[in-house]
Amino acid sequence: PMVPDLDIARITSLRAVALAAKTCLICPMAAHATQTVFGEGRETARMMFVGEQPGDIEDRAGRPFVGPAGQLFDRALHEAGIERDDTYVTNTVKHFKFRRTPTRRIHEKAGPAEIAACAPWLAAERRIIRPAVVVMLGVTAASALLGRSVTISRERSRIITLADGSNGLVTVHPSYLLRLPDETTRTREYDRFVNDLRLAAGCLD
Ligand code: URA
Repeated sequence: PMVPDLDIARITSLRAVALAAKTCLICPMAAHATQTVFGEGRETARMMFVGEQPGDIEDRAGRPFVGPAGQLFDRALHEAGIERDDTYVTNTVKHFKFRRTPTRRIHEKAGPAEIAACAPWLAAERRIIRPAVVVMLGVTAASALLGRSVTISRERSRIITLADGSNGLVTVHPSYLLRLPDETTRTREYDRFVNDLRLAAGCLD
């Protein structure tokens, strides 16, 4: 690999990690994606959000959570009284994984190999930022950070302690809310999501 794990573990500033991640060739996804989409936010953030991987729009923009899921996420943050600018937003995997059809690039779930390959970057973000609470958006982030397979419904909506001693909270991924076909269910699930965000923010008091 271009950037060995050992070197990543030695980087001390967020700016330097983000820069190093731009040229990461640890996994084959780098060759297909437009660019690395690194986390974004303050080095002093006390709240960190971890998604799955950049989507089509994020891949083009080079910024996390700016597409449809990101817009829903922004709305929920606002409703929960959280300023996105005060937080740090990142993904488990920093490249968009997709398959091509003649007209579209279709999201493919990141697998264990990609998650493992990308883990040193997320570890570096957590080590440097040391957030008081890490919110895991969906099953990919939750399994990656808890180091085991996770059932969201079983583990969501409560404060847990992560291996590094920080607080963690598992909740659904905003894309899941976008996919719910029924309006009543969608509203109810969205409200639960906002409540989870409030619960996580409660760790900062
Ligand atoms: N979904 C994610 O998990 N992350 C993004 O950045 C966008 C959509």
